[in-house]
Amino acid sequence: MPAIALSERPLLNADPAVFARDFDKNCFTFTHGLSGNPLFSTDRLLALARRRARDPDDVYYDAGEIRVDQRWDQTPPCDLPVDELLRRIETAGAWIILRHVQNDPEYAGLVDACMDEIVALSGRDLSQVMKVRDAIIFINSPNRISTYHIDRECSWLYQIQGRKTISIFEPADRDVLPEREIEKFWAVDHNAATYRPQYQSRATVTELLPGHGVHIPVGAPHWVRNGPEVSVSLNINFHYLDAITADVYRANYWLRRLGLNPTPPRVSAFKDAIKRSVYGTVNRTILQPARAARRAIRAMKPPARKT
Ligand SMILES: [Fe+2]
Repeated sequence: MPAIALSERPLLNADPAVFARDFDKNCFTFTHGLSGNPLFSTDRLLALARRRARDPDDVYYDAGEIRVDQRWDQTPPCDLPVDELLRRIETAGAWIILRHVQNDPEYAGLVDACMDEIVALSGRDLSQVMKVRDAIIFINSPNRISTYHIDRECSWLYQIQGRKTISIFEPADRDVLPEREIEKFWAVDHNAATYRPQYQSRATVTELLPGHGVHIPVGAPHWVRNGPEVSVSLNINFHYLDAITADVYRANYWLRRLGLNPTPPRVSAFKDAIKRSVYGTVNRTILQPARAARRAIRAMKPPARKT
């Protein structure tokens, strides 16, 4: 696999033809040079977890037996502080997510370097379509499953420590992922994608070892089984502007609720433009104020859990 000389020692090595061809369309593997980086030592991750935990939105964790088809809102809660859970990670059955790592001064430089490489490798002007550049660190207990789901992010998963097996499905396979599940995902339910075991054979199954990585396109369903060791992964990702397709899916969700059979995004530029415009107005004048009111009400209640 030829390396791309973006710097003296590239962080990500991939076949440039595959990178350009499959970017945000199909999953593909790559190799990287982050596994020995001291930022991912146990002590540094523990310190990072404590810093991220200052804001509950920057940390998520749970612990317990998880099925591949389990909803995230049905996972067993964990009342331990995140640093205590991290100390027990070998046996806790835990899944820890440290979010928005790019906002931590110690990690910002690495995240930026990774994303800059990805942008250069893409050969596209992503500045016109990006809403957010983001980074997440996943820390998983041995043999822990991460449930089947789709993401908003266009992401690159760098396996740093331990190993995991990831099943990734094609985002365009409507047997695996029906149109209405995508609409529901963007509109109201992050867990809308439903695992169908009869289609497991359609997944690309990849074992990620330290130094390996995989690209996950937006909306590509996937689930993960951790290997027999503690796993640490870095996810470098970006979100597209909502106006590109998310708002069209949201408009289609509400049109379907009205009994219509809406045209999927990218079939008709004219219909997409109308939906973006109408949804944008409804969102600004009705949905956003309603969400703000709900958040204000929730803020007045004591938190149900520590995540
Ligand atoms: Fe994911």
